[in-house]
Amino acid sequence: MPGQTDVSAVEASVADHYSSNALLDRIKAGLREAGADPEHPDPNALKPVDEFHVGGIEATEALLDPLEITPRLRVLDIGSGIGGTGRHIAKRYGAQVIGIDLTPAFVETAIALSAMCGLDGQTEYRVASAYDLPVADHSVDLATLIHVGMNIEDKYRLFREVARVLAPGGRFAVFDFMARTGEDPDYPVPWASSADHSFLDTPETYRRCAARAGLDLIHERDRHGYAVSFFHHVIAAADKHGTPPVGLHLIMGDEAETRYGNVVRATMEGRVGPLELVFRN
Ligand SMILES: C[S@@+](CC[C@H](N)C(=O)[O-])C[C@H]1O[C@@H](n2cnc3c(N)ncnc32)[C@H](O)[C@@H]1O
Repeated sequence: MPGQTDVSAVEASVADHYSSNALLDRIKAGLREAGADPEHPDPNALKPVDEFHVGGIEATEALLDPLEITPRLRVLDIGSGIGGTGRHIAKRYGAQVIGIDLTPAFVETAIALSAMCGLDGQTEYRVASAYDLPVADHSVDLATLIHVGMNIEDKYRLFREVARVLAPGGRFAVFDFMARTGEDPDYPVPWASSADHSFLDTPETYRRCAARAGLDLIHERDRHGYAVSFFHHVIAAADKHGTPPVGLHLIMGDEAETRYGNVVRATMEGRVGPLELVFRN
């Protein structure tokens, strides 16, 4: 039940799950091996590692392109990881982006990568919790949450906080793994080492909590089928070409294969799958 777990203990174990040493050095080494400039990479060279969700940049574009983001929009990326989605929004749509994330190592890496790409003037990254967003009431036109809700137990508290920061008419775009059958994946998965910081909810829970927080659902798309074909494609490419120098294994570390394998299997078996939901304030 939401609210029953000690929030700071969960947040500490989430940050611990994602923390990794020398991530920036590993990314630079991967860029070098891929033939990209390791000190001043084109932001596109980072896409295989800095979009930490199923479908990578392709899924980010599929979620965001229909939203017609303009340079005037104030964007908040909640659970911004190493900052890829924020840099994409800054570069592609010209908007100003604040990213917040629980994991200090990811925030440090996000700041460094944005500076290396020359996008530090348009992106800002801070350590913060989704339950306590460090921005003023009604100051955000678009909030995004990409593969983060699986670590957040109290969905109503999340939606209430998002509703606080959204300007009237502001939108909230969610792309999360959700529960489909009530059967958990095997752990570890990319977002959790164990069940104690994994909170997969059904789309109905998201809709209900959003409605209670005063947000209207304006778009919904089940991406389970897309995820299945994406995983088939990734596995076929890895069988043919091996592990690419720049990829999510740099973030997931030694357990990458097991974490990835478990989410692939749970998705193929229909236990979990990603969905897009967009709400309006
Ligand atoms: C799977 S990663 C996705 C990162 C990014 N959205 C992306 O797609 O590349 C999940 C991220 O959510 C962050 N996170 C999890 N729970 C959070 C919370 N309650 N508040 C802020 N960030 C959180 C984690 O630290 C991690 O960086």
